[in-house]
Amino acid sequence: MNFLVIGSGAREHIIAQKLFDSGVNVFSVITNRNPGLIKLSREFLFVNTYKANVQKIVDFSLSKYIDCVVIGPEDPLALGFSDSFLSKGIPVVGPTKLLAQIETSKGFTRDLLVRNEIYVSPRYERFNSINGVEDFIKDLSDEYVVKYDGLMGGKGVKVSGEHLMSTQEAISYCNQLIDLGGSFIVEEKLLGEEFSLMSFCDGKTVHHMPAVQDHKRAYDGDVGPNTGGMGCYTDSNHSLPFLTDNELNQAREINERVSAALLKEYNEGYKGILYGGFMATRDGVKLIEYNARFGDPEAMNLLTLLDSDFASVCMSMANGSLVDVKFKNEASVCKYVVPKGYGSNPANDATLIVNDSYKEHSDLYYAAVNVNDSGDITTTSSRAAAIVSTGHDIGIAESRCESGLSYISGNNIFVRHDIAKPHLIDKRIQNMESIR
Ligand code: AMP
Ligand code: GLY
Repeated sequence: MNFLVIGSGAREHIIAQKLFDSGVNVFSVITNRNPGLIKLSREFLFVNTYKANVQKIVDFSLSKYIDCVVIGPEDPLALGFSDSFLSKGIPVVGPTKLLAQIETSKGFTRDLLVRNEIYVSPRYERFNSINGVEDFIKDLSDEYVVKYDGLMGGKGVKVSGEHLMSTQEAISYCNQLIDLGGSFIVEEKLLGEEFSLMSFCDGKTVHHMPAVQDHKRAYDGDVGPNTGGMGCYTDSNHSLPFLTDNELNQAREINERVSAALLKEYNEGYKGILYGGFMATRDGVKLIEYNARFGDPEAMNLLTLLDSDFASVCMSMANGSLVDVKFKNEASVCKYVVPKGYGSNPANDATLIVNDSYKEHSDLYYAAVNVNDSGDITTTSSRAAAIVSTGHDIGIAESRCESGLSYISGNNIFVRHDIAKPHLIDKRIQNMESIR
């Protein structure tokens, strides 16, 4: 069997690794020279952009007799790559352009939820001009979030009191978004703890993965700009230390209802990973956003714990007959090595030096880096490498992850070390206890 992986980050590196471990042939489409993907791929196609190369990528798949395509990032989904493969009869893990709007249009998702009486959204309004923004901000008692209504790699969101310190700053950010030509959303700022719940969907059947907590802020203590995600952890019971069973079940039910709502409204099954970004609040679990793909870094935690044959999971998901999926009862911790300044002003001369002794403690997945012919690795403006470890509990997994990280060096690199440390987890538990 031949599988094609699209994307060249750490998420796609682990996807390719798990497919390789299943014994299938891996082919890939990459936009940076990721050494991990290059090593695992029987053949790869390098493209500068996805947009200009849809036809080339489809032709590559046809010439390699690809049996199943797994799409990692949001951009190819937004461009309708799934539609192109499906029109050639190639099964795909990843929804069509229509259903990928669950991620590409925050307005699409919020409106879908309302129509289907899934009342888990914060108060929100969609805008495409500055008219009414100030009144709505006042209405929300200055507790608000401004979001670009489109893809911005997790960086289009600004939160009052953290990134926007006055109404003036908010208005000026909204004006910037208008200049970008897009519409935007202003919504109520939710108070609580965030978590991600991803589910495998075959159009009808939904199998949930363990809950994960990502860390979007760039720096220790949850401060700094929003990023694509600095690191994640999962607990051995497939939940999180600050989450109740009831809260986890609410999130599972929301994903199930959303999958069913998409099938009912669009007469088309959602085939791929449905990623709910949730906030546990005083008033129950609320939805921050949906993504139409595996989270990154979440994929490293989840696929490391996967205890089923990944190629069979992918093929059965794409064919509408999802097999049972099992995960190990272990905790996992993943931390990203990034160029200094990632999230705002990334260093453009960062390098990565990997001492193989990390393997005694961790696995490593390469992200947006380039390897040259001599094996030297340079970073881009995005994340460089994910280090992931497991253990009977979060504490063991975290210290193993740090041991693994101690073998990674380089110029101008940065790691958010507080992720999954006991004091940060305690802070999360106390936060939920104080608001419940
Ligand atoms: P998003 O790209 O929608 O996931 O937003 C990025 C980050 O902004 C989230 O992970 C949250 O930390 C924060 N955020 C987004 N929406 C809200 C909200 N309504 N209330 C509080 N924080 C939010
Ligand atoms: N971990 C955040 C994302 O994948 O969007």
